Amino acid sequence: MTIRALHVASELYPLLKTGGLADVAGALPPALIERGADVRVLLPGFPAVLAGLADLRTVAHLGRRFDAPNVTLEQGTLPSSDLVVYVIRADSLYDRPGNPYLDAEHVPYGDNAQRFALLGWTAAQLAQQLDPTWAPQIVHAHDWHAGLAPAYLKAAERQHGKAFAHSIFTVHNLAYQGIFPAHLFGQLALPQDFFSMHGVEFYGQLSFLKAGLYYSDRITTVSPTYAREIQTLAQGGGLDALLRHRTHDLSGILNGVDYTVWNPKTDNLLPERYTSSVLSGKHACKAALQKRFGLAGKSDALLFGVVSRLTEQKGLDLLLAALPEIIKRGGQLVVFGTGDAALEKGLQRVAHAHPESVAVELGFDEALAHAIIAGSDVVAVPSRFEPCGLTQLYALAYGSLPLVHRVGGLADTVVDASLENLADDLTTGFVFERFEPEALGAAIRRAFALYARHSEWKATQRRAMRQDFGWGASAERYLTLYRELA
Ligand code: ADP
Ligand code: GLC
Repeated sequence: MTIRALHVASELYPLLKTGGLADVAGALPPALIERGADVRVLLPGFPAVLAGLADLRTVAHLGRRFDAPNVTLEQGTLPSSDLVVYVIRADSLYDRPGNPYLDAEHVPYGDNAQRFALLGWTAAQLAQQLDPTWAPQIVHAHDWHAGLAPAYLKAAERQHGKAFAHSIFTVHNLAYQGIFPAHLFGQLALPQDFFSMHGVEFYGQLSFLKAGLYYSDRITTVSPTYAREIQTLAQGGGLDALLRHRTHDLSGILNGVDYTVWNPKTDNLLPERYTSSVLSGKHACKAALQKRFGLAGKSDALLFGVVSRLTEQKGLDLLLAALPEIIKRGGQLVVFGTGDAALEKGLQRVAHAHPESVAVELGFDEALAHAIIAGSDVVAVPSRFEPCGLTQLYALAYGSLPLVHRVGGLADTVVDASLENLADDLTTGFVFERFEPEALGAAIRRAFALYARHSEWKATQRRAMRQDFGWGASAERYLTLYRELA
């Protein structure tokens, strides 16, 4: 039996991306389709989404919804993969260029509750045959933006006395909870009793994330370790009790890598391509990167790269604290990202003080991200917490050894260069345990020590590049969940 599933998300690579969610939304549906599922996606009609879809046509007129006039549901296809994408056209809510969540001053839009309620509501309508030719059996909602979809499905089930679809809610990041003032609940057209501790209420406010966690039939998150961490008081973001209560419905399924996008052998965004057997192209990528960022063109300087949102989560303040360790040993650092103004400033200050060894650029650019992942010797991901993390997986594929904090998906994907692991030929990178400058500093020293032993470094690079973090195994696990539910 072919299972029909609708993925509901706010971003999708290559249409619109602010982080790893887009990579997953772009890669998981095709991986599921390849394995026999009938999967479509629902997205808000942001300008970049509407512009990137082919063959758009109207599926349904929805009238006035969440204060937006003339809302329509349209359907198109993603030119790169023929994936069928439903898109909600509601210009007064979505016709805003750039970041899908924040305005030009980096402030969340004041009407985000309405903007993303419409997303969840439309998903539930699709389950109720809004498109006469296709309806999902599974609604798979991602992060708080889609968190109301399971709630609207439960409300419809109660109203009609039958279930229209089963729901899965995937937590990509528990730190973003979609919390809004309680008075907005009245605009959501949900049953009054849903605003309760056993529902969407969260300490007197309205939480879209909690709605997803509470009303979905199954919860997944993006690594096994993060699935355990979020059930603890320390890392549960106030939702640990609910998550523990639902522990039997909760599983951690590791994200995969789309190796059609992230593969040094075929990557057109690199100055030179390379493979694990012929790494000379990687040296060219490093030289080009040093040049691009105005660093000293030393081929033997250990080059650390960071491609990241610059937020508290990513732990770059710790990297700043350990930076003397890198500079002292003749290493270099390239940081590329955007986010917190204070962090941006702090990074720029060190770059200014050490122009030969440290470079920082603010921005978001897919091509530069590839160039940095490929040209670095080490990709640093010192996150405080990390649900899965994708850049360390991309780094492995590019033979750029990841240096990571042992948390979340980072703990599940990188093997440290300890003496035991080196002896057993298991090492793929550098892992530090405690989130402290000394622990990070020691991991940095392990990186320099391994780099000094050329043949072992090369062998480790090759091992890293041989790791298979493709979507195969994880897509199978999602399919098993779908089958259990349907
Ligand atoms: P998160 O989703 O928490 O940001 P992930 O590691 O899962 O972290 O995914 C980050 C994704 O965003 C990766 O594809 C990474 O390459 C990309 N990315 C992060 N910062 C930038 C940037 N400044 N420019 C381009 N891509 C970026
Ligand atoms: C989130 C997490 C990141 C994860 C990504 C995709 O943004 O911060 O760890 O890899 O989602 O699931």
